[in-house]
Amino acid sequence: MEKILILDFGSQTTQLIGRRIRELGYFSEIIPGDSRLTKDTTLKDVKGIIFSGSPFSVYNSRAPRPDKLVYKSSIPILGICYGLQRLITDFGGSVASIGKKEYGLSRILYTHSNTSNKGLFTGLDEGFNSWMSHGDALTNIPSVFKVTAVSEHKHPAAVEWKDRKYFGIQFHPEVTHCENGDKILDNFAGSVCGLKREWNVDLYYTRLYNEIRRKAANKNVLLLVSGGVDSTVVAAMLLKTLNPSNIFLMYIDTGLMRKNETEEVSGLLKGLGAKNLYIIDASDKFYGALKGVTDPEEKRKIIGDLFVSIQSEKTSKLGINNFLLAQGTLYTDMIESGKGVGNKAQVIKSHHNVRAPLIEEKRHQGLLIEPLSILYKDEVRNLGKKLGLSADVIYRHPFPGPGLAVRILGEVTKEKCDILREADYIFIDELKKRKLYRDIWQAFAVLLPVHSVGVAGDIRRYGYVLALRAIISKDGMTASVYPFKSDDILDISVKITNNIQEIGRVVYDISSKPPATIEWE
Ligand code: XMP
Repeated sequence: MEKILILDFGSQTTQLIGRRIRELGYFSEIIPGDSRLTKDTTLKDVKGIIFSGSPFSVYNSRAPRPDKLVYKSSIPILGICYGLQRLITDFGGSVASIGKKEYGLSRILYTHSNTSNKGLFTGLDEGFNSWMSHGDALTNIPSVFKVTAVSEHKHPAAVEWKDRKYFGIQFHPEVTHCENGDKILDNFAGSVCGLKREWNVDLYYTRLYNEIRRKAANKNVLLLVSGGVDSTVVAAMLLKTLNPSNIFLMYIDTGLMRKNETEEVSGLLKGLGAKNLYIIDASDKFYGALKGVTDPEEKRKIIGDLFVSIQSEKTSKLGINNFLLAQGTLYTDMIESGKGVGNKAQVIKSHHNVRAPLIEEKRHQGLLIEPLSILYKDEVRNLGKKLGLSADVIYRHPFPGPGLAVRILGEVTKEKCDILREADYIFIDELKKRKLYRDIWQAFAVLLPVHSVGVAGDIRRYGYVLALRAIISKDGMTASVYPFKSDDILDISVKITNNIQEIGRVVYDISSKPPATIEWE
């Protein structure tokens, strides 16, 4: 399928470039910026290439460079920020530090007489607020390039090499604050590269359907389900595409789940036509394994390992061999875990199961199917709608694999899980009743390992402190705090402390990501 190829040089916003292009209806793929390219593989069907930004300066000895083939092919290129500087220096130009960083909104000025007919600025007014984040600027520009726009500080903001259809911009059109960002990306993909807008839910449904049939028809497929959107969409997709008798769905109740989760998941999957559904109550095993453990990464490892061992014990008992393992891995998961891009990114939390031993083994044997691995979260939700899943399922807030264990700071016990489960339930239920749930990307409660003094009637109480977290985000990579109306948050706090006597105090977490992460551990 024809696409825009994004070469990732390590910018925090590379993902956003990919999403914006897809939202515009064009297919896009991201690969590491220094990947070896060949005409028949990586460059096949590529109609345009985008160079992303980067934390590196072009003069750093470790600065990533694209394979020279990009310049030998006749494919149009758009360089963004570092991508622009890369393009210019690769053709003999130079950049230098500008002293004071240009960061945030900056007005871009250009004149249409400077830009080509089908250039990036087609259809735009001759000035708009762009989003800048750079400390270097172009100082010497090869004569084949023409400066087509300048920033309000008079630094070159856009260049164009008309004959080759090479464009470079210093600002970030992928960032929502950048005015006309979508239009610029649309101009590049549509007018410059001639790509058709054909990426839509029907198309990716058919593509996944054929892919699953090709890989898994008449084979046994095992899927671990969690109740989250991703694994539920995979389950629905598999049940629709293959013979349900060949699909083995396994749900492990770790005791770290939300209230009523196990019952709800079981009902939902049966409703989707599951024939082989195994609900395994392993909560005591998990509580036992987590006894005395306080380190977040150790918790994650213990939970991940136990999960795998329970699952393999159960599958050998069931006698299913050579099964394909299905996973609800998303495109972003592949990228964050360094499978796709991000190999230069630092691991903040060992989130995803992408690298667990069983999964690596299955991947190696070619027995892994990850039907969602080319999709972003909003695309998965669209697919869920097409598969007839209810809004309750599709818009369910994300929940981390290690569950409540990373929301109980310090040691995890059943008693604490029960308290937190109840508090979380009240919080979420109130958000739904107040019709706030869908405005919030993710909300949850966190049980802190501190007690604080309170008073109930005339009695002194020494209860837990509970933190509430509610954030707005597009993909969990960055997040801002949900600005509750004070009545709502105050009422919710009272509901919690009135109903759960072990909780003496409620606080609201007002940190954005970055610098905080969404989960507390
Ligand atoms: P952070 O806390 O890194 O979270 O800002 C970003 C998103 O990832 C979820 N998360 C996890 N998901 N296993 C998961 O499957 C994990 O260990 C994990 N840790 C965080 C988090 O809930 C948020 O949606």
